[in-house]
Amino acid sequence: MAREYPFYCAGEWRTSSDRLEIRNPYNDELVGVTYNATDQDLEDAIVAAQRAFEVTRKLQGYERAEILQRMADGLRKRQEEIARLIAMEAGKPIRDARVEAARGVFTLQTAVEEAKRIGGETIPLDLMPYSQGRFGITRRFPIGPIAGISPFNFPLNLALHKIAPAIASGNTIVLKPPSRDPLTMLTFAEIVEEAGVPKGAVSIMPMDRKVGDRLVTDDRFKLLTFTGSPDVGWDLKARAGKKKVVLELGGNAGVVVDRTANLDVAVPRIRVGAFAYAGQVCISVQRVYVHRSRWDEFVERFLAEVRQMKMGDPLDESTDLGPMIDDKAARRTQDWVESAVAEGAKMLIGGKAEGRFFQPTVLVDVPKTSFVCSREAFAPLVNLWPFDDFEEALAEVNDSVYGLQAGVFTSSLEHALRAFEVLEVGGVIINDVPTFRVDHMPYGGVKDSGLSREGLRYAIEDMTEPRLLVFNRVPDT
Ligand code: SIN
Repeated sequence: MAREYPFYCAGEWRTSSDRLEIRNPYNDELVGVTYNATDQDLEDAIVAAQRAFEVTRKLQGYERAEILQRMADGLRKRQEEIARLIAMEAGKPIRDARVEAARGVFTLQTAVEEAKRIGGETIPLDLMPYSQGRFGITRRFPIGPIAGISPFNFPLNLALHKIAPAIASGNTIVLKPPSRDPLTMLTFAEIVEEAGVPKGAVSIMPMDRKVGDRLVTDDRFKLLTFTGSPDVGWDLKARAGKKKVVLELGGNAGVVVDRTANLDVAVPRIRVGAFAYAGQVCISVQRVYVHRSRWDEFVERFLAEVRQMKMGDPLDESTDLGPMIDDKAARRTQDWVESAVAEGAKMLIGGKAEGRFFQPTVLVDVPKTSFVCSREAFAPLVNLWPFDDFEEALAEVNDSVYGLQAGVFTSSLEHALRAFEVLEVGGVIINDVPTFRVDHMPYGGVKDSGLSREGLRYAIEDMTEPRLLVFNRVPDT
């Protein structure tokens, strides 16, 4: 019998008649059963989040930190159980799932620290004859109920990037976890409850599109934080009304392998960056520009690495590449690869769907307009091009509607600094792949890749408003 996972709504565990079976993308086995929340459940969650905000906004820094510390401790104790659940419901190889669970603990632990250092400024105001004797101070205040929508690819950690800063900053949150793999966050909801979060401050509820749309349109939410695909994200922003919107969207991340690159570092890291979690990562390496003098050596060594990769059961410790999340994703990847080849691309390895698996795929001579290059592939595929001039390579990386992170492998400080100056992205990673992230980094994109930044401290800035207090020094009477 599969385990049942009720959802966590307004401080209560609930079910509905809209049953959701969650199956392992690897073998279709039933992992668990949960339920979509109804419109009335969402209404109850919003009212509870508003009510709880009257409590959370008054919590002292040490109280918010203590709640988060209990969450971090709770997750630490259940790390292996949650990693296995991620492997089963998301199809993520267990070694990667364990990294995600450990990152989740780090995200919460960082939020504990950030809850204690939400500071302000002192501003001199005596700068005009009419403002003599004045100075100002600012403090940041929580903004109110937050709506969060988190994606399937990091079912734990990307949801915690919404819940943890919300609690750290004295807000409340209603979170819609992904419909493909909601069980991880429904398990985390048990940790939330045990941590003693004020009743109704956190609700975690799967919802269908129609019900979930109210997270976007309901004005009682003061901020919508969404991680997901660019098309969906920008559409939500257009309909979000007066609330603030944070968008963490996708990209087609580029990497430059310069003439002076250390290939012992670059080759294995690009293999990981391109194929981790079957490329279903917003900062997955999709475009690689290699200096022509290193091209032959790079291609030979890279293909040798790719050939070593083992596809298989996500729960098997030796698996490097698991299945894609669903049939549609594998079919779409197949269509895009076939179109690229019809448009002139050459396949060096891979290129075929095997059921829900997609072989690790390396393409060259890809026309820039092919979808495998110009769109977010979100698949285990990578395109390689040679270049002659470093400036030309930077221009190629920038030739994209996206701008999340970019990587540059180089031993030249001058080139590293030049890349930092020129690349139109949220983060430039020198001597590593764009896929690199530690959870306290400011993380987010420019152009179609999104708006604003996550990374605890940066999310807290969006989840709070500065309020100014002006002092006028009045002479004693
Ligand atoms: C993402 O896919 O947006 C997040 C990647 C990460 O957190 O490592």
